[in-house]
Amino acid sequence: MRKITVVGAGTMGHGIAEVAAIAGYEVWLADISEDILRNALKRIRWSLDKLYEKGQLREHPDKIMERIKTVVSIDKNGNYTEDFARVLSETNFMIEAIPEKLELKQQLFRFADEKAPDHAILATNTSSLPITEIAAATKRPERVVGMHFFNPPPLMPLVEVIKGEKTSDETVRVTVELAKRFGKQPVVVNKDVPGFIVNRILARVLNEACHMVARGEASVVEVDSALKYKLGLPMGAFELADYSGIDVFYYVFQAMAQRGFRAHPCPLFKEKFEKGELGVKTGKGFYEYPVPGKYQRP
Ligand code: 3HC
Repeated sequence: MRKITVVGAGTMGHGIAEVAAIAGYEVWLADISEDILRNALKRIRWSLDKLYEKGQLREHPDKIMERIKTVVSIDKNGNYTEDFARVLSETNFMIEAIPEKLELKQQLFRFADEKAPDHAILATNTSSLPITEIAAATKRPERVVGMHFFNPPPLMPLVEVIKGEKTSDETVRVTVELAKRFGKQPVVVNKDVPGFIVNRILARVLNEACHMVARGEASVVEVDSALKYKLGLPMGAFELADYSGIDVFYYVFQAMAQRGFRAHPCPLFKEKFEKGELGVKTGKGFYEYPVPGKYQRP
């Protein structure tokens, strides 16, 4: 298997495409517009240059970039394009990283199931939606699997490989192997529980941190300092929420709650979400960022 198709070129998708290309794979990166794809290539180039400067790449970024091709997935009428169908028809392994909406993902998996060869594995980078529900849109649930990367994918070593109810052991084996070839540390999650392992625990941490601030027991900075300087997390809870996107966590928490994860959601997250204060991307979240989109340590 030398080719990977990554669908969705946003925060996670472009990083996953980069990781695959660094590992030597030919990558097709798909998204709904040329603009998004151009921006994704720019972000990949920036990251590759950073890694190269630090001596962390075996090849020059030019060479790695040559392995990434882009394709627009949807036309003006909202239909999947023929180009995208062609790419899928030659795909052995697809990794989906589109927005966290079950219907959108099911629609894509239905289409990919029709177009991709029978042996192809269809993986989802979902943070919170059940693999089993996504797989139900296909006729090959045994070859649908969770492959959950963490932000930013080029720097985060962990990949959760999640088994849906019908995912075969062979699919898990191939996915674990691929994660290792990507230079990642895979952890198999055998039960398709809401939030898998990391987000289940992270949800409790972020929620508790947020409740403490909402109740006036500690400030954002105090909570984050305690988490960083005692618990040893690389970022405090609020810093991480801003970094990954308050909207991302808001949707993750909602999806988990709808599927029976018991948490008393903290009102501050909802408030920030409704005000559009989503963190680094909007220039303001729990902290402020002078250049929206550019992460600077608060
Ligand atoms: N590619 C290459 N280099 C990158 C990069 C990228 N994508 N992102 C940041 N860097 C570089 C920075 O530019 C900086 O380079 P420099 O040394 O030349 O200035 C270097 O990495 C270090 O960055 P910073 O100094 O800004 O900050 P840190 O030392 O804190 O490192 C971090 C950044 C690796 C992101 C670290 O803070 C970290 O590990 N944070 C926690 C991230 C985390 O927990 N992610 C998971 C989120 S949860 C999730 O994704 C699940 C989902 O389902 C919601």
